[in-house]
Amino acid sequence: MTKKIFIKSYGCQMNVYDSDRMAELMGGEGYEQTEDMTDADMVVLNTCHIREKAAEKVYSELGRVRKNKQQRTENGKETIIAVAGCVAQAEGEEIIRRAPIVDIVVGPQSYQNLPDVLKEFNTTGKPVIETEFPIEEKFAKLPGITANSPSSFVTVQEGCDKFCTFCVVPYTRGGEYSRPVAKILDDAKRLVDQGVRELTLLGQNVNAYHGESPDGKECTLAGLLEELSKIDGIKRLRYTTSHPRDMEDDLIRAHRDNPLVMPYLHLPFQSGSDKILKAMNRRHTRDFYIELVERIREAQPELALSTDIIVGFPGETDKDFEDTMELVETINYASAYSFKYSSRPGTPAAESEEQIDEGVKKQRLALLQKRLTEQQKSFNESKIGSQMTVLLEKKGRHENQLIGRSPYLQAVHLETNHATIGDMVDVTIEGATLNSLKAVINTSC
Ligand code: 5AD
Ligand code: SF4
Repeated sequence: MTKKIFIKSYGCQMNVYDSDRMAELMGGEGYEQTEDMTDADMVVLNTCHIREKAAEKVYSELGRVRKNKQQRTENGKETIIAVAGCVAQAEGEEIIRRAPIVDIVVGPQSYQNLPDVLKEFNTTGKPVIETEFPIEEKFAKLPGITANSPSSFVTVQEGCDKFCTFCVVPYTRGGEYSRPVAKILDDAKRLVDQGVRELTLLGQNVNAYHGESPDGKECTLAGLLEELSKIDGIKRLRYTTSHPRDMEDDLIRAHRDNPLVMPYLHLPFQSGSDKILKAMNRRHTRDFYIELVERIREAQPELALSTDIIVGFPGETDKDFEDTMELVETINYASAYSFKYSSRPGTPAAESEEQIDEGVKKQRLALLQKRLTEQQKSFNESKIGSQMTVLLEKKGRHENQLIGRSPYLQAVHLETNHATIGDMVDVTIEGATLNSLKAVINTSC
């Protein structure tokens, strides 16, 4: 009988991507994926360490996993429990100490060894912890990527050398690593053969990409986008997440000159105050960011901008927060992610004695989100009456309804009998809400 694996993914797109790779990897070992934990012979929690009390949340989820395991044991079924991802990396052995039901701990740079680790566990019966950083080996060992939608992610870069003082990524994912161009092109061609039309290049600091070209030279992200554009069948290219300091001229030009590069950019600024930016070790100022956005918008006037913002970083005064609100006003975002600062053990900002009161953080976040929501809504409404091309990605809830994405990454809902998932259709936008657009397909006469 085939065995079943249940993988629960937390956090960023990189984790979703990693979970899919783990599912493929374990598929090779005879494990079929299930959505139902009670049915699973192996449970994997692919954890994220960015959010508040991340580790505590994993321990409480492990409480639920333990109950499930007990139930299964009573029914004579075994269950192997694995914790993967950034909490696994950060906590290591501590996980086994606090949650002895856990059998396997694998960090985000070592999950390619999951089948071997599982064999080791099955042979010895002892918990196995793998938190090494053999990142080149990881990509070499992973099976070829498979598609489950016309829009697919491809990891091109991992880790980060920036060391923003609030962030765990440099510790959990390790230093910056760029995959070689040839490997990425192989993944892309394989995905296109499976019907993929849109690729989103993933990396924690994706625009710092500097992978090796087949001729041995270094290739920038703009160069990589250029190479990917030559693959027949690729219709759209995106990339995320970018750091303002790595937004080089050739990448800005790609937004002007390469029609496959979508007019959308996720460019976190984190804070509008120079004092806070310095304390965050962001290596850019407010003016640098504003001028950078001006240059990118000059290259691509249609650009939809998105960002990440943190409120309540240690030492943030009312004035610093006003600077953030003012920057939001100056730039005008199409969408944004905003967070209350939460301290991550081991990061420099966690040591600061100027931590901000939770109530103040909450108030600031509410004010900020109110404004960001208004901006997002008016961005969506500004598209009413316009024409655009939509890539159809999935079925909607209603009969004949399909959902796609606009060039600006908005969800677009439409009804049709004539188009199908994977099609690129020309539409007119008829309505807009906070989170989506409503469209009709243009009919040619
Ligand atoms: N507290 C709050 N937000 C954080 N982020 C990263 N670390 C923290 C933290 N300690 C946010 C940043 C980052 C996004 C992925 O998560 O805005 O860009
Ligand atoms: Fe974290 Fe992004 Fe800063 Fe890198 S650039 S340390 S991933 S916030």
